[in-house]
Amino acid sequence: MTYAIIGSGAIGTALATQFARNDIDVLVANSRGPASLADLVGRLGKNIKAASVQEGLKADIVILAVPFGSVPETVRDAAAWNGRIIVDATNAIDFAAFTPKDLGGRLSTDVVAGFVPGARVVKAFNTLPAAVLAAIPRRTADIVSCFFQATMPRPMPKSRRWPRSLDSPDLISANSRTGGLPSLAAL
Ligand SMILES: NC(=O)c1ccc[n+]([C@@H]2O[C@H](COP(=O)([O-])OP(=O)(O)OC[C@H]3O[C@@H](n4cnc5c(N)ncnc54)[C@H](OP(=O)(O)O)[C@@H]3O)[C@@H](O)[C@H]2O)c1
Repeated sequence: MTYAIIGSGAIGTALATQFARNDIDVLVANSRGPASLADLVGRLGKNIKAASVQEGLKADIVILAVPFGSVPETVRDAAAWNGRIIVDATNAIDFAAFTPKDLGGRLSTDVVAGFVPGARVVKAFNTLPAAVLAAIPRRTADIVSCFFQATMPRPMPKSRRWPRSLDSPDLISANSRTGGLPSLAAL
């Protein structure tokens, strides 16, 4: 299983920190290219590999940690998705006013799914501030709830494995309570 994070800002760095902490290899890409990631790679260590966006988009699981408005441009040159997984961490927000974007009644993840035909789309990590995501330690008494929702009809069996491996000792449950409704993972 290969992983990539597209976006190396607050959320991308927080997630890369968790990959590093759990000794899982991940590619990280941003809009400025691999050379700009030298500091991050140096700080987080051997599991974190700088990549181009195009390289990152070939991974089995691609985490989108870019502004919502950048999603179409980010995924434009992706190879066929063929059921590979996109994890959508974006929030469809107008940041200046901090109000939801008008999506004409569509769910933001449905909009994202429209840009990645053939991908299985999981909405995750968007409800947690980057600082919280980055800070979750292994083996803690604290519980952090991470809501996620998937577009696939039977969402969890495969994806269950990857958040589990991200912070396995503390993942208490990742149940898809009622099919399409939000699920709760307790990290
Ligand atoms: N910050 C939070 O606490 C938080 C919490 C939940 C959800 N979110 C959501 O997570 C997403 C990322 O937020 P953030 O705070 O991490 O933003 P950020 O710090 O501004 O980082 C955005 C990243 O996206 C990259 N990027 C932008 N356009 C790109 C493109 N076309 N191709 C490749 N990379 C591109 C940027 O590349 P460069 O580095 O090269 O500029 C940057 O690394 C947003 O949708 C936000 O709503 C954020």
